[in-house]
Amino acid sequence: MKQLIFAANWKMHLGPDGARAFLTAFLEGHRRLPDREVWFFPSAVALEAVVSLTRGHPDIRVGVQNVYWEPKGAFTGELGIPMAREGGAEASLVGHSERRHIFGETDAETGNKVRALLEHELIPMLCVGEKIDEREAGETLAVVERQLGVLQQHDAAALAKVVIAYEPVWAIGTGKTATPSDASQVHAFIRGWFADRGVAPQDARILYGGSVKPANIQALVSDAEIDGVLVGGASLDPGAWSEIVGTKLD
Ligand code: PGA
Repeated sequence: MKQLIFAANWKMHLGPDGARAFLTAFLEGHRRLPDREVWFFPSAVALEAVVSLTRGHPDIRVGVQNVYWEPKGAFTGELGIPMAREGGAEASLVGHSERRHIFGETDAETGNKVRALLEHELIPMLCVGEKIDEREAGETLAVVERQLGVLQQHDAAALAKVVIAYEPVWAIGTGKTATPSDASQVHAFIRGWFADRGVAPQDARILYGGSVKPANIQALVSDAEIDGVLVGGASLDPGAWSEIVGTKLD
């Protein structure tokens, strides 16, 4: 059975009180389904609230949105991976387009974060995706391949732990979604990249992100290439999020 991941990226929304209110509403109607997991990426200050309220739900996992690659030290404002782990995080987003394009995160930095996460046994969810001008220039696959290059140094066992989120930059927060067939083509390319490095196709986990909502979720996750979704805006509303995670496959 295909295992799906429904991941909520709360970005800079929902502090501890907001997270508690969200989860109280969401968990009330939440039923575990055998073919899926629900992941939350709250703000670092809401991590504890989310971890404690979701304890006892084995299908729910919690991660952080960003980490620094040094384990500790004089790095004001940064979040160390051992601390995130101690706080209950099992995963971290890496290379989200907002990190790349607003905060200037480079491929080299993204690579350092992936390596450090794997060393500390947290799951990296590596986000990749092209900007609109790159898509229009026919460079989508070249951009994605360059961004995947940060994984080059890792062996198949390590690569199988990495989750990829393909998020075309032009679809994030814009209301424009890649069609399932646009996304599917890029996902197949990513799956091939992993297969060339020894990861069996069924072991590669490749999510789609960018304006996912209740109206388009079913078509996306019914596509054989799409192993789940990373959702921003629609994951902030407990009703919309319940609809998304409860969607039936075609
Ligand atoms: P969106 O964001 O669902 O609001 O487009 C997705 C993301 O940035 O991960």
